[in-house]
Amino acid sequence: MKVLVVGGGGREHALCWALSASPVLTRLFCAPGNAGIAAVAECVPIGAEEVPALVDFATREGVGLVVAGPEAPLTLGLADACAAAGIRCFGPTAAAARLEGSKAFMKEVAEAAGVPTARWARFDDPAAARAHLRAAGAPIVVKADGLAAGKGVVVAQTVAEAEDAVAEMMERRVHGAAGATVVIEECLEGPEVSFFALCDGEVALPLAAAQDHKRVGEGDTGPNTGGMGAYSPPPMVTEALREEVMARIVRPVLAEMARRGAPFRGVLFAGLMLTAAGPRLLEFNVRFGDPECQALMVRLRSDLLTAMLAACDGELADFDLRWSEAHSLVVVLAARGYPGAYAKGGVIRGLERAQAVPGVQVFHAGTARRADGALVANGGRVLGVTATGATLREAREAAYRAVDAIEWPEGFCRRDIGARAV
Ligand code: AMP
Ligand code: GLY
Repeated sequence: MKVLVVGGGGREHALCWALSASPVLTRLFCAPGNAGIAAVAECVPIGAEEVPALVDFATREGVGLVVAGPEAPLTLGLADACAAAGIRCFGPTAAAARLEGSKAFMKEVAEAAGVPTARWARFDDPAAARAHLRAAGAPIVVKADGLAAGKGVVVAQTVAEAEDAVAEMMERRVHGAAGATVVIEECLEGPEVSFFALCDGEVALPLAAAQDHKRVGEGDTGPNTGGMGAYSPPPMVTEALREEVMARIVRPVLAEMARRGAPFRGVLFAGLMLTAAGPRLLEFNVRFGDPECQALMVRLRSDLLTAMLAACDGELADFDLRWSEAHSLVVVLAARGYPGAYAKGGVIRGLERAQAVPGVQVFHAGTARRADGALVANGGRVLGVTATGATLREAREAAYRAVDAIEWPEGFCRRDIGARAV
């Protein structure tokens, strides 16, 4: 089967890497891909959000499965357009992708399904939002309803800070229309984990869980990023917790979405906070996490393509997903300045030496090949150095040994990925 992966980051490199090992695969395309993905897939110069062009290409090439990496094409209707063209798509329809695309929708569904989540209220009017903030007090969380490139959440320590967030989102519209509506939530506390489930519209299978490191600085300081590193499995996610999350969060939401006529197919990513009172749902994403996906793919033992096809065809009930007992850890190398402004074009050397460290797989996130063949940085997050080991400590040591083999003066990474768990 021919497969088209949509996206061009580290997550998509990990997906392409796993798919390229499938016995069912005949040809692998990635749009737009990156310099690392080019080693395992044919990169196609179509942007991840150009839905009609992607579907045209898939039709022309006789692609049997389109795999969506990021959420944007899904909220734009990639799965719907594929269905109309008679092509399978791994990822939800636009109606089901609203679980990520609208925080208010997600909270409504969670409430209807009886899912444990933070208390919340939705506001379309800034004056009403301010009145609510003053009555509720701090700490409190203000979220732009729509997609805001991961920047739409403010965990405010004071009411003044929360009021500023309301002004920025609702009045100054720093996130555009995404901030016209806000969700204001109770502030929860506890460690966070990323929980992934494979869904076929009716049946959900738990995938592995991972812990992300969202802040840019060591010790979880500084601004939020897309994720600076991750490891899997997180020790907090016990068998009992996994069952609780499936029973109280994933399955009820799947049933509620089906009841609403928007069955969810693809990967449901539940961002959880493990509070003293039990796991609470913070958010849903309708795709794999980046960099969590990299940490998951190196542990997956089942054929990814077969699993994705089973999810598309409603055949997960009898599917057996296997994982290695190994631990994995990914360290993200980012361009200095990220998540703020950063320069592109710096030359990266030493990847062969990094890749030669036993257990290491280097996934490219934002890289490009210069005309002279040199590998250059081409994004904020640039590489995801991923390693497996018999223990988390071994995986961590291998990942940092590989990081140290890479020469890229304009880059940086956190040196404390997985440190607390080790
Ligand atoms: P989200 O995009 O909804 O996951 O929010 C981004 C980050 O904001 C999360 O990873 C949490 O660290 C934090 N956050 C979101 N909601 C809450 C909440 N209700 N209480 C405390 N922190 C939160
Ligand atoms: N690493 C978090 C995310 O992909 O949303």
